[in-house]
Amino acid sequence: MQSDRRLILANRAWVKDKLSVKPDYFEVLARDQKPEFLWIGCSDSRVPAEEITGTEPGELFVHRNIANLVIHTDFNLLSVLQYAVAVLKVKHIIVCGHYGCGGVKAALTNQHLGILNNWLRHIKDIYDRNRGQFEGITEPNARANLMCEINIRAQIYNLAKTHIVQEAWYRDQRPILHGWIYGLDDGMIKEVCEMRPENDLDQIFRYDFSNLPKG
Ligand code: CO
Repeated sequence: MQSDRRLILANRAWVKDKLSVKPDYFEVLARDQKPEFLWIGCSDSRVPAEEITGTEPGELFVHRNIANLVIHTDFNLLSVLQYAVAVLKVKHIIVCGHYGCGGVKAALTNQHLGILNNWLRHIKDIYDRNRGQFEGITEPNARANLMCEINIRAQIYNLAKTHIVQEAWYRDQRPILHGWIYGLDDGMIKEVCEMRPENDLDQIFRYDFSNLPKG
């Protein structure tokens, strides 16, 4: 059997399983989605968002890219963010990275990876701004894991710097931003940082919404 057939067969079994527990499962699910969470994660196949958080279809709105980056010129990410925040009105945004991230590791080397160089440049820039934290840390995995954590913090700030998140903070005091990191070797999620509507974001990144009607 070709390996793609295995996926189709598994899908049929999954449908059967869902319907046996709840005959109207798909009928209800098809009506609407009201996810409370936007998940921004790494594309890595070992970090499946729903599985590691025990969530069901309908609970997570998901965007994944290499090394879970929030780039303010990425219209793909921004469209997902805009829809999740302004239309679905999610209460939480989770940026979940993971230790041992191949993208982060590559960014700390001199590997030439074609177009991926441009994507990973964002991580090299974050490294450049945080060199001090790497002093005395020479072991490559330790450096990569530290970079993974620093990257999460940077991406949470990148979210906070968008007018999309700031406008939702101004209008209705949500969402809360969560920076998490997943351990490939133990399956555990560690909370790295959190940012609430009241926060310490530098003044230069704040937009003035006082001329917008509230509510
Ligand atoms: Co990764």
